[in-house]
Formats: sequence, C-alpha cells, structure tokens
Amino acid sequence: MSEKDEISLMTSQFQEMVDQFFDLQCRYQAAIRLVQAKLEALDDEFQAQHSRNPIHSMQSRMKTIRSMMDKLERNHLEISIPSAVSNLQDIAGVRVICSYIQDIYTIYELLQRQDDIHIVKVRDYIREPKDNGYRSLHLVVEVPVYLAEGRVAVPVEIQIRTIAMDFWASLEHSLSYKTPETIPQDIADELLQTATDIAALDERMQHIHDEVEKRFGKTADRYRLHRALLAEKRQREKG
Ligand code: GTP
Ligand code: MG
Repeated sequence: MSEKDEISLMTSQFQEMVDQFFDLQCRYQAAIRLVQAKLEALDDEFQAQHSRNPIHSMQSRMKTIRSMMDKLERNHLEISIPSAVSNLQDIAGVRVICSYIQDIYTIYELLQRQDDIHIVKVRDYIREPKDNGYRSLHLVVEVPVYLAEGRVAVPVEIQIRTIAMDFWASLEHSLSYKTPETIPQDIADELLQTATDIAALDERMQHIHDEVEKRFGKTADRYRLHRALLAEKRQREKG
C-alpha cells in the first residue's frame, strides 16, 4: 500500500470513529434527558399528592471515552465504540439523592410502574452493603430513544441513595482514589465504621420522620392545617 493510500485509510477510519462517537453521544444524552424528565415528573406528582419531594437532588453524567476504554481494557474486552455500546451498561448515569431511606424505595416502586422504562438489573447495596460499607440502590434501566433509523433501547445506570450515603460515597471515592495501593487495613476499618455510623443516622432520621407523621399527620395534612391556621389568624387580625 502506498503512503498516500495508508493516510487515506487512516483518515477514513478516524472519521468513522468520530461519527460513531457522535452517534453514541446523541443516544446516551437523549436517554439521560428522558430518565431525568421522568424522575422530575414522578417527584412533582409525589409533591402534589403528599406536599413533599422524595428527590432531594439529581446529577447525571456520561462516561468519558477514556473511562470507557479503561473499563473495556480492565475486563479484557475489545476496545472500540461498538464494543462499549454492547458491553457497558453505565455509559449513561443518573444519580438520585433522596432525603430518607424509604424515599429510595418509593422512587424504585414508581419507576417499576412506568410502561416505557424497562428495569434490566437491580443491585441493592442498602440491604446488602459492599464489604467497604458502600450503600446505594443501583438500577440499570432501558429507555426507548427515537432516532432516524427507528426506536432503540438505551441503558442508563441509576444510583439512588440518601444524602448521608452520598456524603460517604463522595469522600470514600476521593480518599480511595488518591491512594495508589490498596488502602491500609486500619484506614479501611475506620471507613467501614463511618459507613455503619451513617447508616444508623439514616435510620434515626427515618424514625424521626415516621414519628412526626404518626403524631402530627402526613406532611400534606400538616401543610393544609398550617395554611388553615394562618388564614384564621389573618382573619382575626383583620376583624
Ligand atoms: P464499575 O466498573 O465501577 O462501573 O463497577 P460495576 O460495573 O461492577 O458496578 P458497581 O455496581 O459495583 O458500581 C457501579 C458504580 O457505583 C461505580 O462506578 C461507583 O460510582 C459506585 N460505587 C460502587 N462501589 C463503590 C464504592 O465502594 N465506593 C464508592 N464511592 N462508589 C462506589
Ligand atoms: Mg460504573
């Protein structure tokens, strides 16, 4: 092959990769938007019915090319964009942060009832925490994305956790990430202890929440009562 032919082949291969990457980005960004919109709608509906939001906040991200390549390499898989599409289920990720543990399962239940969301994998690291103490509910869902070529099912990884679990996971990630070798046992033990302490705090907050509802009624009822009392007070002040 002449040098000119070689350059031309490389250019067309590179062009093909760029096209594949843009196509991938379109699909996964569309899937993220869809999942986020769905979760926002569920949160709004819950707010309308119960006067409180189960979702505290949400974040989303698409895996970088570098981290897709690293994961394929780690798992001894072919390193290419079609291989990433068929082998990786976490190219698109949405993290949902809830206030209380029960809210996590409420969101999960509401997602299960959606016709156009297909739950393909569930890993409950709350009921069965990882050895290091990590807790979260992980789901892989498939959502339909409509492209020129037709409808395609795109996987999105959803991690659902409480504010407290998120606090722990963020710090643990940065601490473990910066440690070049395996983390020393005494530090690992201390981290595990903090995860256990945090889980106990989550349970206490859940208990306080349940106790307030039991004694003073559901948030929606308390809110209605509060508004009625306020209106009565205003009326008195006027008259
Ligand atoms: P990855 O190759 O990391 O995607 O792992 P996996 O495909 O085996 O899935 P797993 O459910 O174990 O983890 C998926 C994601 O959950 C990770 O990419 C992290 O965002 C989060 N995660 C899992 N384990 C831990 C952990 O021990 N600490 C922290 N901070 N995050 C974790
Ligand atoms: Mg991952």
